[in-house]
Amino acid sequence: MAEKKKFQAIKGTRDLLPPETELWDRVEQTARKVFGTFGFGEIRPPMIERTRLFERAVGSDTDIVSKEMFNWVDDPDLSGAMTKIRDEMRKTETLPAVDGTAAHAMLEKQARLGAFNNLAERVRVALRPEATASVCRAYIEHEMHALPQPVKLWYTGPMFRRERPQKGRYRQFYQIGAEVLEMVPPNQDPTKNIGKDAAVDAEVIEMVMAFFARLGLESVKLEINSIGDRDCRPKYVELLRAELLKVKEKLGPDSQRRIETNPLRVLDSKLESEQGIIAGLPRIVDHLCTNCAAQYAEVKRQLGMRGVPYAENWRLVRGLDYYMRTTFEITALGLGSQNAVCGGGRYDGLVELLGGQPTKGIGFAIGEDRLILSLQEAGKGGTPQSRDIFVAWMGERAQAAAILAAQKLRAAGFRVELPPVEQKFGRALGQADKLGARYALILGDDEIATGQWTVKTLADGSQAKMSEAQFLEMVARSKTLSS
Ligand code: HAM
Repeated sequence: MAEKKKFQAIKGTRDLLPPETELWDRVEQTARKVFGTFGFGEIRPPMIERTRLFERAVGSDTDIVSKEMFNWVDDPDLSGAMTKIRDEMRKTETLPAVDGTAAHAMLEKQARLGAFNNLAERVRVALRPEATASVCRAYIEHEMHALPQPVKLWYTGPMFRRERPQKGRYRQFYQIGAEVLEMVPPNQDPTKNIGKDAAVDAEVIEMVMAFFARLGLESVKLEINSIGDRDCRPKYVELLRAELLKVKEKLGPDSQRRIETNPLRVLDSKLESEQGIIAGLPRIVDHLCTNCAAQYAEVKRQLGMRGVPYAENWRLVRGLDYYMRTTFEITALGLGSQNAVCGGGRYDGLVELLGGQPTKGIGFAIGEDRLILSLQEAGKGGTPQSRDIFVAWMGERAQAAAILAAQKLRAAGFRVELPPVEQKFGRALGQADKLGARYALILGDDEIATGQWTVKTLADGSQAKMSEAQFLEMVARSKTLSS
C-alpha cells in the first residue's frame, strides 16, 4: 500500500491561524485608518515581477537579489532557446583566436551575449522580495506623474526571500509599506527644495510612529542617518575603502570581501571582534556635501517640530542599493536579533533608473510578522474574540425560531453559534461555555409557546426570561458597552 504522506508547510513559510489572524486584521485595519489620515491610498501590485526589475532597483550585488530571490525562467519555449544560445556561446569561447578571425568571433560572441541577455530579461520572473520596485514600476506604467503630485501609496502583502529561517525571519513574510513619489518638474534642479524634501521625510517617519503608537507598540526606537547622494557618497566610500584596506588583516572574511564589493556594508557587521575597528572609521556625516548636510539637518529639525524622538546612527546603511540621503530603521520590544520592525529611506532617482521621469521618492516597509510578535510579547495581542451568543434549541419549531433569531442577530453584527443538530440543553451550555460565548439563548417548547425566551448570562450563570425585542435590546446595549 502506498505510504500516506503527511504534508507540511514549506520551510520558512507558515499558516497564520485564528485567533491570531484577528490581530493581523486589526493591525492592517489600523494601518488603513492611520495612513488614510495622511492622504495615502492603497496599491495592490502583483506578487510576481520580472527578475530584472529587482536586479536594477534593489541591486544585483545585494544579498536580497544575489542570494535570496525565488526566481525562475517562466517560458519553456524561450528557456530552450536560451540553452541553445548559451551552448553556442560556450563553443565560441573555446574557439582558438586565429589572427584575422578573432575580431569576427568577438563580434559574434557579443551578438550572442546580447541576444541571451535580451531573452533572459524577458523570461525570468521572481516572487517579489520587496515592493518599492513594484510601486515605482506601477507609477511609471500608469503614468502617475500626470496625477496631482506627490502620489502617496501604501500596501500590505507577502514578500519572499530565501533566508535562513529563525524567530522573526521567514521566507514568506508580510510587509506593510508606504511610498511617496513626486515627479521633478522639467527644468527644476532636483537638488533644490531641500526643506520641502526634509518635511516629506519627517512626515513619513511621523506617520509610521503614529501608527505604532496607535497599536500600543512598546520600546519603539527610531534611528536615522544620511548616506549622502551621488555627489558625496562615492568619495566617502573610497575613503572608507582606503581606511579598511589598512586594517584588512584584522577583519573577518565577510568584511574583507566587502572591502571590494560594498565597503558600506562593513559598517553593518555585528562581529564582536570588528566593533573596535569600526568605531574608529571615518563617518559619513563628516563627509556629506552641502545639500545632503542641509537636508539631514532639516530632517532632524522637522522631526523635533513633530515631537518624534530619534537617535542618530552613522552605521545605518541599509542593504538595498536605491537609497540616498535619509535612511531610518525602527526597533521594538522582544524581537531578539531580528529586531528591526521597520526600515526605509529616500530613493530619488529610482523611478528614472527604471525608465521613468526624474522623480523623488521616500518610503518604508514594516515587517508585519515582527510587529505582531512584538505586540504579543508585550501582551497587546488582545483577547481573541469569541462568540457573542450561542443559540441552544430543542424541537423542530424551536429550530425554525433559532434560525430566524440567528439571522437577525448576525445581521446586527453579533457573532452567533447555531448548532446544526439538536442538543440536550446541558451539553449545549457546556459547548457555549467552551466557545467563550457571553449569552446562551435557550429555545425549547416552552419558549416557543409563551414567546418568552430564556437567556443565560454565562459569566455569572444568571438566567432570565424576556421577549425577543427585550433580548435584542439587551445584547445591543452590552455590545456598545464593551466596544
Ligand atoms: P527591508 O529593510 O529589506 O526594506 O525590509 C523592511 C522590513 O521588512 C524589515 O525591517 C523587517 O522588519 C522586514 N523583513 C525583511 N526581511 C524579513 C524576513 N525574511 N522575515 C520577516 N521580516 C522581514 C525594504 O523592503 C524596503 N522596500 C523598504 C522601503 C520602502 N524603503 C523605501 N520604501
